[in-house]
Order: sequence, then C-alpha cells, then structure tokens
Amino acid sequence: MLIDTYGRVATDLRVSLTDRCNLRCTYCMPEEGLQWLAKPELLTDDEIVRMVRIGVTDLGVKDVRFTGGEPLLRPGLVSIIERVAALEPRPRISLTTNGIGLGRTAAALRDAGLNRVNVSLDTLRPDVFQAMTRRKRHHDVIGGLEAARAAGLAPVKVNAVLMRGVNDDEAPDLLQWAVENDYELRFIEQMPLDAQHGWQRSDMVTAEEILESLGTRFTLTPEPNGARGSAPAERWLVDGGPARVGVIASVTRPFCRACDRTRLTADGQVRDCLFARTESDLRAPLRSGATDAEIAALWKTAMWGKKAGSGLDDPSFLQPDRPMSAIGG
Ligand code: GTP
Ligand code: 5AD
Ligand code: SF4
Repeated sequence: MLIDTYGRVATDLRVSLTDRCNLRCTYCMPEEGLQWLAKPELLTDDEIVRMVRIGVTDLGVKDVRFTGGEPLLRPGLVSIIERVAALEPRPRISLTTNGIGLGRTAAALRDAGLNRVNVSLDTLRPDVFQAMTRRKRHHDVIGGLEAARAAGLAPVKVNAVLMRGVNDDEAPDLLQWAVENDYELRFIEQMPLDAQHGWQRSDMVTAEEILESLGTRFTLTPEPNGARGSAPAERWLVDGGPARVGVIASVTRPFCRACDRTRLTADGQVRDCLFARTESDLRAPLRSGATDAEIAALWKTAMWGKKAGSGLDDPSFLQPDRPMSAIGG
C-alpha cells in the first residue's frame, strides 16, 4: 500500500509517457517548445509495464491514467495499454490527451483495453484555438472527441482552461455544446505549472467566476450524493440533470486532503504530488537489477513523506522545476 504520514492511500497512478507535445498551449509552454527528454532517458515500454505491474500487484494501485505531454505521441501506447489490461487484478485504464490523432486511434485504444478518455479543449472557436495552442488543429480535436464517443469510451470528459480576455466569455457556450454532444465538461483553474513561470493569481479565472458565468444560462445544483471523494472535480447537475459539469479548483478549493494520486514521470521519477519539489528516482534501480520487492519498497518510501498540501497558499510557494507537460498533468 502506498500510504503517507497523513493516512492517505494512493491507489491512482498517473503515468507520463512522454514530455513531448504537438500543441504549444500558451499557459503551458513557449512557442519554441522545450528541451525534450532524450530517448535513452525515457522508460522503455517494458519498464513502464513493469512499474505498473508492481503498482497493481504489490502496492494496491487500482486506476492507471496515461498522460504526457501528449501520450498519443508515444509509439507503443496501444501495446502498453494491452499489456496493462492483462494484469491481475486488472486496473481501470484511462488516458488524458489533447485529442489530436484520437480520430484514428480511439477504436484501437478501446480494443486494447482503454476504459475512458479525457480530452483537453478550451474553445469552440478555431481562431481562438489557434491563438491559445499556436496550432491549427481545432478540427482534429473535435474529430478525436467524436471518435472517442463513437468508440464507447464513455463518459468522454472534456477539460477546459479559461484565460482572461481570451476565452473566458465561452463558458456557457462550451457547456451547451458539451451537453448537446454528451461530453462531461470540466473547467480547470489555471495552475502555476507553466514552463515560462508566468502564472499570476490575478490572471486566473476562478471557480467562482466560472460558476457565475454558467449561472447566466443554466441552473446548477450540487450533484446529489456528490461525495467528491478523491476526484479533483466538484460537480453540478445542469438544469436538473442528467448532464453534469465539473470544476477543478486546484487553486481556490484544493482537494489535497483526499488526494489518492502517485505519479511516474516519463523518465522514471516518482512524484508524490503535482506540486512536489523533489522526486524519487526509480529508473536507476530499475536499470541496475533491483527486484520487484526492492522497487516497491522505494516507491513506498517515496510516497510516505508526501506533504499535507500543494503549498500554493504559502507565501514561500515555489513552482516545481518541471512544468506540467513534463510531470504529466
Ligand atoms: P477523472 O475525473 O477520473 O477523469 O480524472 P482527472 O480529472 O484526475 O484527470 P485529468 O487528467 O483529466 O486531470 C484534469 C485536471 O486535474 C488536470 O489539470 C490535472 O492537472 C488536474 N489534476 C489531476 N490530478 C491532480 C492532483 O493531484 N492535484 C491537482 N492539484 N490537480 C490535479
Ligand atoms: N493549469 C491548469 N491546467 C493546465 N493544463 C495544462 N497546463 C495547465 C495549467 N498550468 C491542463 C490541460 C489539460 C490538463 C491535463 O491540464 O489543458 O486539460
Ligand atoms: Fe500540450 Fe497539454 Fe501543454 Fe497544451 S497543455 S501544450 S496540449 S502538454
């Protein structure tokens, strides 16, 4: 079991498969991209599957989410999912993607054993999409979403980040579109995890503002039996339901007390928190003949010291050195 000193148990493993991305979202990374990890630094497919197996069979991991960067850029993705789906006990498997390429791969991913997919889409307007991501790929993302829905990867969730003066007027339109298309929309407060270190609290569109904006067109009621549990999103019924909308308010309403996550970066570092300032290297032991039991013990130690919270509200808060795209969302 991956337990920490506050009694939290991590059962949800987020695995970053690559730090690379084919978009350049302005709230994430600069136009020129970043210094990507070199191939030998990345865990191999075998190493990833071994880590997930140790998590599932020895450490109580129940959910495995593949992230990036952009995980669809990882050549071995389908086979990694197939191998993880064959583990006993079988974990639930999900993917967080920007949706580019999902149109071609959604059915194969489902056949490999993928259960769910979350797709990032911040705007319905192609010109705004281009301004926000610096790429003309809006159409591909919409196609990816449709393919995911057609493949039965339900519920398909859509993640949207609002930026002041850019797309912050779009919340009701996004929700209307999501309801009509049977996607579960969640708005995410922008977090200080950008590579440029340019995040400012005053620029962030808050959960409160988002709910106020949605309230101009919809009646939102807190989800009944809405025990949020360890889910980052708080959810509301839209006009009485069954449609729902979520807000992931990591900054203004953090959910750290119920956190059940452990993270593995593409280069084999375990992180106990999205905002952690230290990592535990498991790649070196993986590559120098450590046994499964030894790896499991190191993983437990890595999680034991997890801090109470993200520290975002501390005056001394410092952003992690690695940006979101290298941590894996
Ligand atoms: P499901 O609701 O189970 O589909 O998963 P999810 O919302 O955790 O997954 P997703 O990858 O779509 O993440 C949505 C947003 O929540 C991203 O912006 C993540 O960075 C953020 N998020 C995920 N895990 C954490 C966490 O441990 N802490 C914080 N603060 N944010 C997180
Ligand atoms: N703050 C909040 N969300 C972010 N994402 C990427 N960078 C940030 C940030 N700094 C979102 C992506 C994607 C999800 C995994 O995280 O848009 O939806
Ligand atoms: Fe790529 Fe996601 Fe960063 Fe956008 S937010 S540049 S899609 S890693």
